[in-house]
Amino acid sequence: SRTVRRNADGVVTVGGLDVGALAEEFGTPAYFLDEDDFRARCRAWKDAFGPGADVFYAGKAFLSRAVVRWLAEEGLNLDVCSGGELATALSAGMPAERIALHGNNKSTEEITRAVEAGVGRIVLDSFQEIVRVAHIAERLGKRQRVQIRVTVGVEAHTHEFIATAHEDQKFGIALAGGQAAEAVRRALKLDGLELTGIHSHIGSQIFDMAGFEVSARRVVQLLTEVRDEHGIELPEIDLGGGLGIAYTSDDDPREPHEIAASLGDIVTRECAAAGLAVPRLSVEPGRAIVGPTAFTLYEVGTVKELTGLRTYVSVDGGMSDNIRTALYDAEYSVALVSRSSDAEPMLSRVVGKHCESGDIVVRDAFLPADVAPGDLLAVPATGAYCRSMASNYNHALRPPVVAVADGAARVIVRRETEEDLLRLDVG
Ligand code: LLP
Repeated sequence: SRTVRRNADGVVTVGGLDVGALAEEFGTPAYFLDEDDFRARCRAWKDAFGPGADVFYAGKAFLSRAVVRWLAEEGLNLDVCSGGELATALSAGMPAERIALHGNNKSTEEITRAVEAGVGRIVLDSFQEIVRVAHIAERLGKRQRVQIRVTVGVEAHTHEFIATAHEDQKFGIALAGGQAAEAVRRALKLDGLELTGIHSHIGSQIFDMAGFEVSARRVVQLLTEVRDEHGIELPEIDLGGGLGIAYTSDDDPREPHEIAASLGDIVTRECAAAGLAVPRLSVEPGRAIVGPTAFTLYEVGTVKELTGLRTYVSVDGGMSDNIRTALYDAEYSVALVSRSSDAEPMLSRVVGKHCESGDIVVRDAFLPADVAPGDLLAVPATGAYCRSMASNYNHALRPPVVAVADGAARVIVRRETEEDLLRLDVG
C-alpha cells in the first residue's frame, strides 16, 4: 500500500512518521489519512478528465471540513447526499455552485436549504421530487439547475447491496417503459427547474468498464430521444462514481486516465453517431479518491489459538469502525506494524471487541505466529466507508481521523468521548 511503508530499518512509517509514535500520541484505534495522497488523487482525476469535465467527490465515502477545504483547493466539486453533508460542505466554505445534492428521499428541509444556498445541481430521483423541487424553487423565486437520475438496467458486477442500476432497486427513474422520457417531459414544463442533463450511477467497487459503457450508451440514447421530441439538446451527462480500488493484491483497479479515456471515447462516439453535440461530462468518485489514502491502526488485546482451525486475534475496534467486512463480505489485508518478526505465518482472523461473532475485520490473514497483546496492526485502504459508516454499537467511541502531511500529523476528526455519548442521552 502507498500509505503503509516500512523504512530500511523495518520501522513502519506513514508520511515519514513512525507508526509507534503515532499510536502513542493519538491512541488506537485510529484512522491515519495521507493528505498528500488525497490531494494527488484529486489532481489525477481532475487532470485525467480535463477542463471540459467536472469531478464531484462523493462525500459519503468520507467527509470532514478539512476534506472539504482540500477539495475546494484542488478544484473538485462535491456530491452530498444529506442535509448533514450539505451543512459540512457549506460550513467549510465549499462554494454552493460546486455542490450537487443527491438522495432518493430528500426532505423538504434539505431541498429548501440546498436551493436557498444556491447549489449548482440537484439530482432528481423520483416523479414526486420533480414537483417538490420545482415548487420549492418557485416559492423562493429561483430556477434550480437539476439533472434526472435514470436507471439504465445494468447488472454491475459487485455486491448486491451496492449495485444500483438494475431494475429492482430504489434509485432513479427507469429508462424502461418510457418512464425517464416522461420525467424529462414533466421537468421541462416546470418554471422552477432548469433541466441540464441526465445522471446515471451503476454501483460501487466496480472494475469492469463494460457497465459504464452500456450506461453511457443508454444515457446518450435518451438525450437523442429528448432532442427528437423536444428539439433541445441537454448539455450535461453524469456517469456517477463506483470505480473500484485495491483492497487486496487480487484487485486490479483502473487508473483515472484510463477511466477518463474510456468514458470520454464512448460518449464522444455515441454522440457523433446520433448527431448530438458532446455534452459536458461529470463523474462522482468517492472510494477511488479517499479509499487508498487511509489505514486503521489497532492494538492487539487477546490472541486465541483454536487448534486445527485458526488463530483469533482481537483488536481494540471492530465492526463499529469498519462494518464493511460484516456487511458486504469485504476483503482487507492486515500487517503487523509495530515491529518486524521472523516468526512463521499463521492463519489468523482479525476480530473486534464487539458482542457478536460476525464482528470480523479481516476474515483470513497470515500474521506472524508470535503476534501478541500490545502489537499494532494496520489495515490499509480504510479511507472510504469506514469512518463514514462508523457506529456507536456497544457504546463504542468512534475513532479519530488523523491527517498526515509534510511529516506532521494533526487530528481532523477527534476521538469521541463518553461525554459525547452521554450528551445525547437526555432521559
Ligand atoms: N454517486 C452516487 C450517486 C452514489 O450513490 C455513490 C455511492 C457515489 C457516487 C460514489 O461511489 P464510489 O465512487 O465511492 O463507489 N457503503 C458502500 C458503498 C456505497 C456507495 C453508495 N453510493 C461500501 O462500503 O462499499
